[in-house]
Amino acid sequence: MGDRREINPLYNQHRLKLGTFSSNLSGGCAITTIDGVLQATWPDTLELARMADEMEFEALVPVGRWKGFGGVTNFNGAGFECLTWAAGIAASTKRCGIFSTTHVPTIHPVMAAKQVTTIDHISNGRFALNIVTGWYTGEIDMFGETLMDHDQRYDRALEWLEILKLLWTREEEFDYVGRFYQVRKGWLAPKPLQKPHPVVMCAGGSGKGRDFAARHCDVAFVACNTEDLDETRARIADYRRYAREECGRELMIWSNAYIVQGPTEKEARDFHHYYVYERGDWEAATNLVETMGARTEIMTPEILRAMKANFIGGWGGYPLVGTRDQIVDGLRMMSGLGLDGTLLSWPRYIAGMREFQTETFPLLKQAGLR
Ligand SMILES: Cc1cc2nc3c(=O)[nH]c(=O)nc-3n(C[C@H](O)[C@H](O)[C@H](O)COP(=O)(O)O)c2cc1C
Repeated sequence: MGDRREINPLYNQHRLKLGTFSSNLSGGCAITTIDGVLQATWPDTLELARMADEMEFEALVPVGRWKGFGGVTNFNGAGFECLTWAAGIAASTKRCGIFSTTHVPTIHPVMAAKQVTTIDHISNGRFALNIVTGWYTGEIDMFGETLMDHDQRYDRALEWLEILKLLWTREEEFDYVGRFYQVRKGWLAPKPLQKPHPVVMCAGGSGKGRDFAARHCDVAFVACNTEDLDETRARIADYRRYAREECGRELMIWSNAYIVQGPTEKEARDFHHYYVYERGDWEAATNLVETMGARTEIMTPEILRAMKANFIGGWGGYPLVGTRDQIVDGLRMMSGLGLDGTLLSWPRYIAGMREFQTETFPLLKQAGLR
């Protein structure tokens, strides 16, 4: 047991922290029909985790997904449930930070508190919980729940998280009477290893989601604006200022990116064009964008196409396309924006990450980013 700052890798000294994104789902982050994309098999997901462990990545963030997005790939349709995935990965690794993503409406907070505690013990304090409120109606329907109005989802998430924190920290029994949950004589033992409690993340992008993250979570996310990085820099600084001044809290701020590396810049760009424009599953991307509720009606056709292309490329992350030196420059640039870390993915997840480990990661170390 100990101060989480001393046991969770998220608090280590690496200048740019790194993670993987969606390594538990078919397709990973790339909506394409090329060969070599990730399959939802245990050996595949474990291989990615082992590489991440060797490089001491701070965050393996799985995606909570219960249904795919159709198209010829049924993108993300097959995949592993996040908490049980995290327990297995925790037992199979030694150094990396491990996350689980949990949809609030799918799990009672008493169950979630106990499961997180168990994984915290298995991982020796390397665990973090990503809270999502849900936006895919077809998924929430399967649980016999109704997707609530957007802001109400966060009101419910707040009660849910309050109960988790009480269970994690209170020695004596307690009653909780909320709008959404009632807990009679709540109690939990053992407590998590991390003190005061395991790290909590929320990647909400709306005003309500950002406020929830700033007030109640430890890790938040900002999407990099590919057209205007100065705007991203300002948004990150403003998020930190808001958390510090309005909520009296320090936030870790991360983003997500995808890597397309080639021997030359042209080869990397050609491959990017190939898997996105020639072999992309545009139907699945359209379904994804519409399900997320993107306001497509106010976009020009060009902007909408660019948005879908970026989802096909790597779940809407920041594209890092080029030689290994250019990838290192891109990651240095992300660090310079004020980010604590970034999640990564590769279109051919396993082959791409292996190449990153052998060719690119040593250069990141030389650059002082790791
Ligand atoms: C890094 C990252 C991870 C996310 N993981 C999931 C996930 O696993 N499942 C999910 O349904 N939504 C996921 N989301 C969506 C967010 O939780 C959130 O709903 C979305 O950013 C919209 O923001 P809002 O809820 O504030 O409107 C993720 C977003 C990001 C940036």
